[in-house]
Amino acid sequence: MTRHTIGLLLGTEDDWPSAFTEILRRLGPVEGPGGPHAFDVERITIEPFSLRDKPRYDMAIDRLAYWYYHPREWLKKVAMMDGVYLLNSPFTFQSMEKHAAYCAMMRLGLKVPETVLVPYKNPLDNSRYVYTAARYNQPFDLDAIARKIGYPLFMKPYDGGAWRGVSRINNVAELHAAYDASGEMLMHLQKAIDYDVFARSLSIGAETMVMKFLPDQPMHLRYAVEHDFLSPDAGLEVVTISKLVNAFFRWEFNSCETLVSGGEVYPIDYANACPDVALTSLHYYFPWAMKALVKWAVFALVTGRRARLDLETDRYFAIADEPGMSYGEKLGEYRKLADAYFDTERYQDFCATSLARLDQLMLDWITGPDFDQLLVRTVQAVYPEHEHDQFIAHLRGLLHLWVRDESARLAAA
Ligand SMILES: Nc1ncnc2c1ncn2[C@@H]1O[C@H](COP(=O)(O)OP(=O)(O)O)[C@@H](O)[C@H]1O
Ligand SMILES: [Mg+2]
Repeated sequence: MTRHTIGLLLGTEDDWPSAFTEILRRLGPVEGPGGPHAFDVERITIEPFSLRDKPRYDMAIDRLAYWYYHPREWLKKVAMMDGVYLLNSPFTFQSMEKHAAYCAMMRLGLKVPETVLVPYKNPLDNSRYVYTAARYNQPFDLDAIARKIGYPLFMKPYDGGAWRGVSRINNVAELHAAYDASGEMLMHLQKAIDYDVFARSLSIGAETMVMKFLPDQPMHLRYAVEHDFLSPDAGLEVVTISKLVNAFFRWEFNSCETLVSGGEVYPIDYANACPDVALTSLHYYFPWAMKALVKWAVFALVTGRRARLDLETDRYFAIADEPGMSYGEKLGEYRKLADAYFDTERYQDFCATSLARLDQLMLDWITGPDFDQLLVRTVQAVYPEHEHDQFIAHLRGLLHLWVRDESARLAAA
C-alpha cells in the first residue's frame, strides 16, 4: 500500500475541510500504478522549520498563505526543495496579482476592458518615497484618464480580493472622492461593462463549473441554481478562458469572473488565491466542488503528477502572435495547451475507472445524517442565533434539490 499525506493549510473555515476529510475516508484506498494508494489528511500547524527539514506531506492545499508570510515561505520551501504538490502555486500568486493576470490576458488577446494603473494617491510610509516621488512622479490629469476610458468606470485595487476598495464611478466628483479615499492602495481605473450575465467559474484541477452569479445579492443568494444560462458558444469561451488563465499561471484552485454582454465575454477578475468554497455560499454546488477537489488530489498523487514551477509563456504567446488566426481559433489552441497542462484526458479516464464509486458515495453522504450535522454546525458557526432556523432550512432545501437532480442523473447514466 502506498500512503500519501495531504496537508490542509487553513484559516477559519471548517466546513469544506471536514467534508474533504470525510469523503477521502469513505473512499478508502484507490487502485493505481503498483497497487492500492491510501490517503491521510492532516491540518498543517505553523511552527519554526529548518530550511532543510523534510516535510511529512506529499500535497498541501493552501487557504492561508496569501495573507500570512510564514506559511507562504514554508510552501515555497517545500515546493522548491521537496517536490510537495501545491494547490496553489505561491510563486505565481505572489507575483501575479490581478494586474498581472490582466496583462497576461491582454497579451493573449482576451477582451479585458480598458484598464489604467494610476500611482498612489498618498505617499507611502517610507522616508525615501517622498524624495523619489518628488523627483520622478509625473503630474497627471486624473479627469482626462477617466474621460478617455469613459464613464461609468470602476476603481479597484490592482491586487483585488473580496471587493475591498472597489467602487463604481459615474462622474468626476465620484472619481475624486474614490481616489482621495484610496490612500496607499494602488488602483486601477477600468471601464465598466454593462453586462447581461455575470458568470463566475470555479476551477479545481481539470474541472470547471460555471455558475450564474448575482453580485448584488447577499452571500447566500449570489450563486443562482440555473443551468444553460449561457449560449453554448459563450459557455465554451468562459470555460476555455478559465482553464487558460489557470494553466498559464499554474493555478489549480481558482475562481474567475467574466461579464457576458451581447455574446462577448469580458474577463474582469481572474486571480483568487483562496476561492470561496463555503457550504453556505456554494450550497447546491458544494458537492460538485468537494468531488472535484477529492478527484484532483487523488489523481495528482496516485499518478505522480509533478508540480511545474516554470511557466512556458512562449508557447502561449506564439499562439497569440500567430498572424491570420482568429480569436476563436486562438481560443481553440489555448484550450489544447490548457488541457495538456491539466492532463484532462488522463484525468477523465482515471475518474471513470479508479473513482467510479465516488458519485454514489457523495450522494449517500449528502443524504445521510453526518452531512446534515455538518450543515447545522456550519450555519451555527456562520450566522447569528436568530437566523439559524432560516439558514438551515434554506441550505437543506438547496441540497435537497441537488440530491434530486443528482439521483436523476445517476439513474439515467
Ligand atoms: N469592469 C467592470 N464592469 C462591471 N462591473 C465590474 C467591473 N469591475 C468590477 N466590477 C464589479 O465589481 C465587483 C468587484 O470587482 P473585482 O474586480 O471582482 O474585485 P475583487 O477582486 O475585489 O472581487 C465585481 O464582482 C463586479 O460586480
Ligand atoms: Mg471579484
